[in-house]
Amino acid sequence: MATSQTASKLTPQKPVPLTTTVVEMWSMLVTLVTVTAALFVSLLITAYAALKTLVPRRYRRHDITGKVVLVTGGGSGIGRLLCIKLAHRGARIVSWDVNVAGNEETERLVKAGGHECQARTVDLCDRSAIYRAADELQKQGIKVDILINNAGIVTGRNFLESPDELVERTFAVNVLSHFWTSKAFLPAMLASNSGHVVTIASMAGKVGGRSPHSLTSQIL
Ligand SMILES: NC(=O)c1ccc[n+]([C@@H]2O[C@H](COP(=O)([O-])OP(=O)(O)OC[C@H]3O[C@@H](n4cnc5c(N)ncnc54)[C@H](O)[C@@H]3O)[C@@H](O)[C@H]2O)c1
Repeated sequence: MATSQTASKLTPQKPVPLTTTVVEMWSMLVTLVTVTAALFVSLLITAYAALKTLVPRRYRRHDITGKVVLVTGGGSGIGRLLCIKLAHRGARIVSWDVNVAGNEETERLVKAGGHECQARTVDLCDRSAIYRAADELQKQGIKVDILINNAGIVTGRNFLESPDELVERTFAVNVLSHFWTSKAFLPAMLASNSGHVVTIASMAGKVGGRSPHSLTSQIL
């Protein structure tokens, strides 16, 4: 019984005639053209990227002369350094911070270098304050070209040891404010088809950790 079943399975099939319809030929042609075009485009992109690496880095830099850069948390640390460095490269700086004294010091330092800077007190935990400050810029005819979401509340404390209020503030500044600032400035960037939104986070988000700061960085 088993032998006859095996035999029937092994019975050779009738050869199918090798006929190709016009539709099949057309479909093959389309596939061939698509694949060739894709290969050609990827070859062009690769050649362009390879050529670009030959150009010295300083000539490849994006020219930001006269561009408006808004830095959140510009009143100290990395934010202040960004304001100073970008102003040296010709950018017009707007610095938002809740730390009034620190922000004024940033404005003073940037202006001392002969550059333009506007420090504005904004509490990034307050969504309406963000929209108000953005409206004021618009009324002044200032369009933000580069938005740098830098402000952050940095604590190494485990979230179990962090007061609830601190956890809430950390999420409000480190995560939620990015949504509000982007909603305020991204539409104009999209409309003009130019602009950048930069997010500063921490490697603590990659490494892991239980502090509110590293948890928010994981989200970013
Ligand atoms: N310093 C580091 O080692 C480090 C490492 C990795 C990532 N970062 C990230 O870089 C960014 C800047 O860090 P930093 O070290 O310069 O910190 P920082 O504390 O020196 O500066 C943060 C700034 O944000 C401002 N800020 C805080 N809450 C605010 C609020 N509600 N409204 C407006 N401004 C507010 C502060 O006043 C301060 O000026 C943060 O996002 C942080 O997560 C820092």
